[in-house]
Amino acid sequence: MSTSYQLDVGKIRRDFPTLKRDVNSGASLVYLDNAATSQRPVQVMAQITRFYRDHNSNIHRGIHTLSVEATEMFETARSKVGQFINAQDSREIIFTRGTTESINLVVNSWGRKFLKPGDEVVISELEHHSNIVPWQMLRDSIGIELRYIPMLDNGHLDMETANKIIGPKTKMVSITAVSNALGTIVPVDEVIALAKKQEALVLIDCAQSVPHMAVDVESLGADFIAFSAHKMLGPTGVGVLWGKLNILESMDPFLGGGDMILTVNMEHSTWAEVPSKFEAGTPNIGGVIGFGAAIDYLNDIGIDNIRAHEMELTGYALQKMSDIPGITIFGPDTAEERCGVISFALENIHPHDIGQILDDNGVAVRAGHHCAQPVMNFLGVPATVRASFYIYNTKEEIDALVSGLLVAIDLFGVKS
Ligand SMILES: Cc1ncc(COP(=O)(O)O)c(C=O)c1O
Repeated sequence: MSTSYQLDVGKIRRDFPTLKRDVNSGASLVYLDNAATSQRPVQVMAQITRFYRDHNSNIHRGIHTLSVEATEMFETARSKVGQFINAQDSREIIFTRGTTESINLVVNSWGRKFLKPGDEVVISELEHHSNIVPWQMLRDSIGIELRYIPMLDNGHLDMETANKIIGPKTKMVSITAVSNALGTIVPVDEVIALAKKQEALVLIDCAQSVPHMAVDVESLGADFIAFSAHKMLGPTGVGVLWGKLNILESMDPFLGGGDMILTVNMEHSTWAEVPSKFEAGTPNIGGVIGFGAAIDYLNDIGIDNIRAHEMELTGYALQKMSDIPGITIFGPDTAEERCGVISFALENIHPHDIGQILDDNGVAVRAGHHCAQPVMNFLGVPATVRASFYIYNTKEEIDALVSGLLVAIDLFGVKS
């Protein structure tokens, strides 16, 4: 595990006012729900305020000063996002409302146009609902087959079976890079290689990877990736679909309306070029501009430092938590195999009760199915408790989590 990274957590924490809060009559907030959404630094909030205060206008539409400024700020954010994932052309960055909308865009714009009955789309048992439900809807609408790469007891994908499932009928493999429920880092390179052998396209759900580890679309070899700003210090309601330019150009629009057309007459319309073709209507302009500031913030810290810090926290947490009586930790054994996510259960205590007791002690975690019910079904549990880390978390906060769990065990009188 790397120990030679540079990250001044004390300095970082000063940029996040929410982390200074108390909750529940005086407990200091310990925010460990970052896989659901991260906090935002003052720099991001200031940039959003600056836009609304000094430059507020609609984009791409006017020749007046404010509109030109707003358009420039919006397009600068697009370039920053593109550079962050090493996209070769910023036209390959489509702004959406989030990962969910990005996946729905591919399903509807690419899937409806290019798939026919009998074609196969391969996903996995580890997926978030947003990479399952849209494909099921498409299957029910046009008669494709949906196949799942199964998961294994250790939280990894069964790659031997993946090799058999991805075959000549496979036209798309749509898979998560990191399981939001377990933290498992999926060997996407191997999955992409299997898909490319069959000339299938690949969509990678990077909602839990882009915020935490370097993702380089140029070397990755996927055709699309999707991620959300709100999990990486940016605002809610902003997401990204990156796609290869020639593939995006071949697809039909998902939503129709203003900004996505070239011409409209009473009989028919023609489409604008990519990316406008996929950005109908007024987008979340302030949010996208704020996202640009979030990218600046992450770049200042360095994505490899972020990964190293989270690995260190995860290793520490796995070690501390494994000593807790009656605990089951789901997913891979080591911090190297995971992002900063730990899903667990305590014997004889319902996950929601654990979440409540932790909250009483100031510790914010998620208890539930994490929008990954197939994973819960595989584990044979209705829900888990999930602690998830980011740049501002500390080992002391993991100690607070462990103390809170011991309080829960005490309260419920569970004997070890
Ligand atoms: C792996 C994964 N995919 C997709 C999503 C959906 O993201 P959003 O709700 O921002 O659209 C999430 C959110 O938790 C996720 O973790």
